[in-house]
Amino acid sequence: MTAERSKEAAGRAALALVEDGMRVGLGTGSTARWFTQAVGEAVRGGLRVRAVASSDRTAALARELGIPIVELDAEGLDLAVDGADLVDPALRLVKGGGGAQVREKVVAAAARRFVVVADESKLVPRLRGPVPVEILAFGSGATLAALGRCGAAFRVRSGGAGRPLTSDSGNLLGDGWFGVIEDPEDLARRLDAIPGVIGHGLFLGMADLVLVGDEAGGVRELRRREPVE
Ligand code: A5P
Repeated sequence: MTAERSKEAAGRAALALVEDGMRVGLGTGSTARWFTQAVGEAVRGGLRVRAVASSDRTAALARELGIPIVELDAEGLDLAVDGADLVDPALRLVKGGGGAQVREKVVAAAARRFVVVADESKLVPRLRGPVPVEILAFGSGATLAALGRCGAAFRVRSGGAGRPLTSDSGNLLGDGWFGVIEDPEDLARRLDAIPGVIGHGLFLGMADLVLVGDEAGGVRELRRREPVE
């Protein structure tokens, strides 16, 4: 339960970044859920926002809470808030434990500010696997073989009853079992270059701020530093 307290602290803290009239991206997972919850409470209290959900389950929760859900259009978003599986000191992320990484990346990329909410257990000195991928079912054998040449074995996630797990968009989900990832940018380039890969869970140079919750209910901020020229 203590991890839950940390997640709640981080998720709720992100509400302070939401201003009346904003277009907000809602993330997916057990930490981002607290942000959605807090936005829902604020909406009941009169806050006006329009939200884009990064997964069907977040959209369902948001509707339950009375948060107006809109399509992600050319206007983009003022703010997106989401969780992460891992965060390194340069605020590079591994995401996609919940299988929503492609929609999450689309939402994060459309936001003028992308804020991550996490508990201490997500902070690591170096990124490592598993690295989630979403792949096209067509030719998936060839795509998995190409992924396997990127330095780790990739396996498709099982959805039970002998069926593969699929994303909200109907594509296959898998993971690459890396140890420490020496060069995340190089790995991201290699994954992006495989035609059957729709997207992956390396979020590099995207997070502007990470809010880290602790068990006492406190929150500290980690900010991305621009590289020194
Ligand atoms: C969902 O696909 C993920 O990217 C989540 O944001 C990530 O797995 C973090 O989830 P938790 O907050 O549940 O740990």
